[in-house]
Amino acid sequence: MKWHPVRLTRRAGLTTGASLIGLGAPGPAHATGETAAMNRQDHATATSLRVLADARGIRIGAAVASRPLANETLYRDILAREFSSVTCENVMKPSFLQPSRGRFDFQTADVIVAFAKAHGMTIRGHTLVWHNQNPAWLERIASSGENAGAILRDHITGVLTHYRSDGPVPVPAWDVVNEAITDTGALRDTLWARALGPGYLADVFRWANEADPDAHLFYNDYGAEGMGRKANAVYALLRGLVHDGVPVHGVGLQMHVGIGARQSPSRADLAANISRLRALGLEVHVTEMDVKLQTGTGTDDERLAEQAQVYADMLGTCIEVGVTSFTFWGFTDAHSWIPGFTGKPDGALPFDATYAPKPAYHALARVLAEG
Ligand code: XIL
Repeated sequence: MKWHPVRLTRRAGLTTGASLIGLGAPGPAHATGETAAMNRQDHATATSLRVLADARGIRIGAAVASRPLANETLYRDILAREFSSVTCENVMKPSFLQPSRGRFDFQTADVIVAFAKAHGMTIRGHTLVWHNQNPAWLERIASSGENAGAILRDHITGVLTHYRSDGPVPVPAWDVVNEAITDTGALRDTLWARALGPGYLADVFRWANEADPDAHLFYNDYGAEGMGRKANAVYALLRGLVHDGVPVHGVGLQMHVGIGARQSPSRADLAANISRLRALGLEVHVTEMDVKLQTGTGTDDERLAEQAQVYADMLGTCIEVGVTSFTFWGFTDAHSWIPGFTGKPDGALPFDATYAPKPAYHALARVLAEG
């Protein structure tokens, strides 16, 4: 394939005097005027991940948060230029879409869908059935056991009817079930498993398929990227569903990984796992990738280089084995869930907190350009 120049090499490392790893507080939520202007100029003449990914026939995506989308021009500009797919980081979860029983609120999510549509991006819906971020009313009913199936079915039907693939706000792919398997490979003891029994997994895919027969329906989980106990359990679950004729069309591998030993799968394990899932006839998407720096050692520059390598290894392998969509959980360190989740500052995404592209960005662009 022809080499596409990626002229985004203004800075390879840090953008301020502050240490990237040691940043006590999150960086500024937006770039300074000067940085922003330079960024815009750089990007105006550059190609982008999106352009490169288009040429490879793969979607490149980012999880999107509503507040910076509304408030930050640079966030919007980079999102539209660099990515061809978006996932709502939070606002399509049940606590947002059905805050009280029978009252659906699509307003906030629809702003993101409209942005995606206006910029020719696709949307991955996330998520219908999970044990987190459910409204209190729904948890109450589910734990009482009564009508749990009916309310879950109503939720799925309500959401997928609004977002039907052939409607005005289409969402063509959905993480129907999120994280239903434990780290040791057992069925997770969730409100849904308790109320409905293990058969709920097949049921929810059928309900989703009835509500939108054209939607691509995914099982999504973390820690099941390489080979191992959890990956084996996810594979066995999917094999069973496919065997039973359940309408499941794909697997989402979240890919929340890190630098350092055993913090990300080997290329061989990742390839083997994805290949066996694809052999079931399933589509495979990477749905939530980020690469933590706090799990490694070395200077800031060394960590950033290692992070770039992990991003490149994972994307390169995924392209080789036919992954069709590759999404990061955010794109800028200014808005990443990792510091909140781990309680430590980090820098897990391809753009830094001032929106400057990091070594990871350049490595991803190289992989897309060269294979
Ligand atoms: C996270 C969001 O990023 C946070 O803002 C929120 O507080 C909690 O959820 N796996 C998933 C995502 O499937 O939905 C999670 O998103 C991150 C882990």
